[in-house]
Amino acid sequence: MKRLLILGVFASGIMACNSEKHVDKEVLEEVNQSMEIKKVSEVDILNKAMEWGDEISGAAQEELMTKLLSTIEEKGVSEAIAFCNVEALPGLKKLSDDYGVKIRRVSHDYRNPEDQPGEMEEMLLQAYEYNEENDIANTTNVQELPGGEVLLYTKAIKIPGKLCLNCHGAPGKDITEETLAKLNELYPEDKAKGHEVGDLRGMWSIAIPKKEVVKKL
Ligand code: HEC
Repeated sequence: MKRLLILGVFASGIMACNSEKHVDKEVLEEVNQSMEIKKVSEVDILNKAMEWGDEISGAAQEELMTKLLSTIEEKGVSEAIAFCNVEALPGLKKLSDDYGVKIRRVSHDYRNPEDQPGEMEEMLLQAYEYNEENDIANTTNVQELPGGEVLLYTKAIKIPGKLCLNCHGAPGKDITEETLAKLNELYPEDKAKGHEVGDLRGMWSIAIPKKEVVKKL
C-alpha cells in the first residue's frame, strides 16, 4: 500500500514536470512517517496487541454467543449443536480474515480435535491451568512467537454460566439424552463434557502479525 503510494507520487511527478517540489515533500512525509514507526517501542507494540486482542476476542465471543443463543431459542439445544459443529470454525475463520489475524479456541478437553493446542499454545494453556488450580488470577497475555514477526494473544475461557452446561456439563444431569446422542454421533472422542460453572474451558489464541499492530500505532 505504502509502496504503491510512493510510486503514484513519482508517476504524477514525471507527468507534471513542474511539480518536483511537491514530489519531494510527499516523499519526505512518507519517510518521516516510517521513521516515526521505527521510534515506536516494543512496549507500545505489546500494549496495542493486547488492546486489539481484547477487541477481537470480544467480537469473536459475541459472534458465537449471539448465534448460539438465537439457534437454541429457535430450534433447541440439540439442533444448536449442529450450528456449533458447522459454524464455529468457519465463523472464526471469517472473523480472522476480516481482522488479518488467526483466531482459535484451544483446549485440552477439546470437543473438536482441531482445537488442540499447538506447541506455544500448549505452554500458555498449561500456565493458565496451573494458575487455575492454584487460585492465581488468570490474566490475558501477549507473547512474541519465535521469529519475532507474530504476536500471540491468549485469554482464558471460563464457563460463565449454566447455559454452557447444556452441552458441556454432566450427561444425564445437565445434558439431555437427545443432546448426548447428537454429541456422541458428531464427536465420538469428545472430551468437553463434565464441566461445572467456573471451570477453565480453554483459551482464546489469536496470532497477530506484528506489522499489522505497528500499522495501528
Ligand atoms: C448447543 C451446545 C453448546 C453450548 C450451549 C455450548 N457449546 Fe461450546 N461447543 C459445542 C460444540 C458442538 C463445540 C465444537 C465446535 C466445533 O466442532 O468446532 C464446542 C466447542 C467449544 C469450545 C472450543 C474447544 C473445543 O472443545 O473444541 C469452547 C472453548 C467452548 N465450546 C466453550 C463454550 C462455552 C464457554 C459455552 C457457554 C457460553 C459453550 N461452549 C456453550 C457445543 C456447545
